[in-house]
Amino acid sequence: MLAQDDNSKILIKMILIDGKKTAEDIKGEIAEQVKQMVADGKRAPHLAAVLVGHDGGSETYVAFKIKDCEEVGFRSSLVRFEDNVTEDELIAKVHELNNDPDLDGFIVQLPLPKHISEKRIIEAIDPRKDVDGFHPVNVGRLVLGIPTFLSATPYGIVELLKRYRIPTSGKNCVIVGRSNIVGRPLSILMSQKGVNATVTVAHSQTKDLEKVCAEADILIAALGSPEFITANMVKEGAVVIDVGTTRVNAPETKSGWRLKGDVKFDEVAPKCSYITPVPGGVGPMTRVSLLLNTLLAAKINR
Ligand code: GUN
Repeated sequence: MLAQDDNSKILIKMILIDGKKTAEDIKGEIAEQVKQMVADGKRAPHLAAVLVGHDGGSETYVAFKIKDCEEVGFRSSLVRFEDNVTEDELIAKVHELNNDPDLDGFIVQLPLPKHISEKRIIEAIDPRKDVDGFHPVNVGRLVLGIPTFLSATPYGIVELLKRYRIPTSGKNCVIVGRSNIVGRPLSILMSQKGVNATVTVAHSQTKDLEKVCAEADILIAALGSPEFITANMVKEGAVVIDVGTTRVNAPETKSGWRLKGDVKFDEVAPKCSYITPVPGGVGPMTRVSLLLNTLLAAKINR
């Protein structure tokens, strides 16, 4: 959006994307659907989370997921294991959850301890209950454009762009980061029919990253390096989506830490047409996407 100042200089009016408010709106829509399901005599959707160990970040994320379920009227279950659980014990639990007719979907919170193969655990999950969208079958369906459970962060970002009516068709989208959870699936979603962006996936071996980023109409930072994206890497009027959520020491806060994004917000924001904050941008959309996937599982699996 453009405005003109007194010296006839074109100024860009920056819009701060409110992921928290958007996620709250979607939660309201989900809660309405749950009410209707229950009124129709069906049971409410049921999500389980498997948490191994006591990593601070994972504890927080899982607690939020359980709280989100309560807010929209879902049932939730938390299955805990100590760090020394064996891979076979975890696989046995996955099989049990796969076969539980009372459960619509479940997640195994990552990362797992080093002695456990994440690949083997993910492959043991029934794709029909894989509401994280991590199973190779669901990733394959995503690539082929077949409806499936979409990985939560990419799903949340595309939904955010849609709800803010941000044009994507024919736009040059640069994604920095190629993780299995965010960068790679997001590159597929952004280039799929209906979204129609021209996508570049940049990574640690990309040459002249600054120049590549500066050509983006939509720049998505998902590399997990606090304040990596600086103003010189951003085109005037770009849409900037910050996926970073690194905990940094902050002795002045009660918890002793706070979240930092991958974008140097203060210097980048004035150049943008739209930008997501951290916190309150992509994070709440990731959480609500898990609820959307669980609702979908409850509808298609019964
Ligand atoms: N660890 C970080 N993000 C995620 C996620 O979306 N799902 C799971 N299962 N683990 C994670």
